[in-house]
Amino acid sequence: MIAQLPGGQVGYDDQGDGLPVVLLHGFPHDRTLWTPQRVALAPRVRCIVPDLRGFGHSSTHGPFSMDQYADDVVALLDWLGIEAAVVCGLSMGGYLAMALWRRHPERVRAFVFCDTKAGADSDEARDRRDALLALAKREGTRAFTEAQLPGMLGKTTRERRPDVVNGVRVMMGRQSVAGITGALQAMRDRPDSRETLGTISVPTLVVVGEDDVLTPISEARAIAESLPAAARVRMEIIAGAGHLPCVERPAATTHALADFLATLADPD
Ligand code: MLT
Repeated sequence: MIAQLPGGQVGYDDQGDGLPVVLLHGFPHDRTLWTPQRVALAPRVRCIVPDLRGFGHSSTHGPFSMDQYADDVVALLDWLGIEAAVVCGLSMGGYLAMALWRRHPERVRAFVFCDTKAGADSDEARDRRDALLALAKREGTRAFTEAQLPGMLGKTTRERRPDVVNGVRVMMGRQSVAGITGALQAMRDRPDSRETLGTISVPTLVVVGEDDVLTPISEARAIAESLPAAARVRMEIIAGAGHLPCVERPAATTHALADFLATLADPD
């Protein structure tokens, strides 16, 4: 579906009824990253799955920042008439979920932080972003995809699931250079969210693929340990998955989400 909003066009899926759950993709992905969970969870909850600015069917123009992505999500919720939702963000989607909490905490019913981290980029990481920016501009999406793909997926997936590897390659390969470079700048310049975590007062699930090398288990544990008691944190490690458990181990990831969402079924 397409929403024409004042900030630009937003591609999104909206499936199911009941508790609204917003599923936010990472970089450089689009909303199809969450297709297995949207389909499996829709009989129980309402899944809202947007393409972030610059990706999928959303507008490719800026401004690009975590704050802007967060405001875009809220603009979509407003348009759909949704007051508050469970916000589930993978990697860059998690960075933006933390920005959403800083800017619009009343719109968040609960969090799922999936394969993400709270710290800002180090100087070395910022230099790597700049090198990737130059690569994307110089050589385009295909070369960028081949450079990024190996780190996205776990060893098991790379060795045994060529269909999954190819599906992720196709998804990454259809993103625009404008969206890729905009997101790289937004991630490079994002603030440190570690203090933000200490203010989270809604139930939170932290999910991580056992073999994630981009945002490893240590980052997930650091998030879980920074959350206050009010977040009633739960943590799930998805065996045999790397950075993208939602496509590498879709059933296990759906199961972790479904169990968590069941604990939210009765509004308190
Ligand atoms: C992502 O999957 O969103 C990226 O790996 C995040 C990042 O590059 O920091």
